[in-house]
Order: sequence, then C-alpha cells, then structure tokens
Amino acid sequence: MVGDWGYENYAAQTAVAATMRQYAQEHSIRAQALLMLGDNWYGALDGGVHSPRWQTQFEQMYPSDIFSCPAYAILGNHDYQKFPESKVDAELEYARTANSRWTMPAKWYTFEFPKKNPLITFIALDSNMPYRDGSTSHGRDFTLTQQEQAEQLAWLETELKRSRKTPFLVVMAHHPVYSNGPHGDHPTLIRDWDPLFREHNVHLYLAGHDHDLQHLEFDGHPTSFFLSGGGGADLYTLKIDEEKRGPFAEKVYGFSHLSVTADKLTLRHVDKDGHIIHGLTKTPDGKTGIMS
Ligand SMILES: [Fe+2]
Ligand SMILES: [Zn+2]
Repeated sequence: MVGDWGYENYAAQTAVAATMRQYAQEHSIRAQALLMLGDNWYGALDGGVHSPRWQTQFEQMYPSDIFSCPAYAILGNHDYQKFPESKVDAELEYARTANSRWTMPAKWYTFEFPKKNPLITFIALDSNMPYRDGSTSHGRDFTLTQQEQAEQLAWLETELKRSRKTPFLVVMAHHPVYSNGPHGDHPTLIRDWDPLFREHNVHLYLAGHDHDLQHLEFDGHPTSFFLSGGGGADLYTLKIDEEKRGPFAEKVYGFSHLSVTADKLTLRHVDKDGHIIHGLTKTPDGKTGIMS
C-alpha cells in the first residue's frame, strides 16, 4: 500500500516506487493487490482519464509485470479538486477503462481479498467530509455532499452488520481517524465511524493524509490504526511523539506491506531504502503483536 503518492514533483515518489518494486522482487512477493490510499493526484490532471500522468506516475511506477493485480484506490482531499475538471470523475472513469488495474467502482465500495478463498473483507470509504461550516466547496476544493455523507454512513452500518465469511475485517479511507501528524484527530470520523469500528471489532483502519508512517493503538480499542502517507508528497513534521502515543510514528518516506493467512494478519512499514522499520501482527480474535 502507498498513500499520498501522485505528487507534481515526483522525485520522492520515484524513489519509493523503485524500492517497492525491488522489495517485491527480493522477497519474491506476487502482490495480489495494491492499495492506493488517496491523494492519488496532486495538482492538475490535464486531460483527465487521458492525462499522461497515468502512464508516468501510475502504470510505470507500479508496473503490471511486478504488480499484476488490482490497484484498489480511494479518494483523498487532493483528488477532490477541480482544475477545472473534477479529478474524482477522471479517477472513476479510469477505473472503467478496459483491463484497467485501477479499481474504484464507486466513491465507497467493498471487496474481498484475496479473490480466491478470501481472508479479508475490505470496506473502502470516502472520508472527504463537508467542511465544519457545512459547506461543500472552497475554491477548487470540494467534498462529499451532506446527502452522500449520510448515505455512506447508512451503507457502512449495513455492511458492518452483514455476516462475513472472512476472518478479518479492514476499513480504509484517506483521512486518519487518529493521527500524530499535523492534521491530527478527525472529530467527524471519531463521532461517526469510530463507535462502529468498536462495535463491530474492525481489526484495522488504513489511512494516509499525513505524510509520514504511523501505527497507533488505544487501550481497549479493537482497531489498530495504521497510516501510510509517505508515498511521495513532501513530508510533515509530527505533532505528537510516538513515546506519548504510539507505538510508532515517523517522518519518513515509504510504503507498507500487508500479508495475511487464515490466522494472522501482518503489517510492515518499509522506508524508502527498503528497511522494515516497524511491524505488527493481528489475530482474528484481535490479539495484537508488535514487531520491532
Ligand atoms: Fe496528502
Ligand atoms: Zn490528504
């Protein structure tokens, strides 16, 4: 997985993507999914679905000879911009082009992983909530409408209540619910989503948005909060030290690797030099282990 990657100056993205390719090859990983955690496109995406950036910054960075798998994508705040065309529309359209790995059937959707004998139910959400004053556009930036926000929340509750066959349940969205970075904790997501994660024992919440790598745990909370926002955009300085709230938060470029068996989910943060700098494991009954 990689977050906050489609930056206009793509020197750091190039370095992280090269390490991802190398990591996959060195560890003989046949990736069965890419998770693109939002802020897929910063700046203009001239030509929309026909923008050359799809080739240079997606197809060639994460090439299909190494990543021969769907790229499940979610929308970040930078995707929610008009230049003047909506990048959201372009991304939904790119997913509809024939044989595209880019997978985004809707702004929020669910899928099972892997496709054969699935072990994880993924719920992919759109965290672009209306602004605090209730408005849904500021200049070129926009958000979900109030109606979409309510529809998604009702849909999320229905999905969480549905009986599952997979041992693991993972939710992903661009904005973190909790973050040690400058964007901080998200009041709307804490109010609307967090109680549902507790109630339905969501194992893991994946996010980006803060340009760093994090993993936060909270006493008595079934969900591990894992943030991978080091895919290429300029890094942010953390606001809360990992000693205070952790176990892990680091200002570093990188990506993350999720692997799963029927009885264990393993997550690793990998920096842009290919070093595994943090890891955790999780069992179906919610036991969390830290790998250091
Ligand atoms: Fe970002
Ligand atoms: Zn963002």
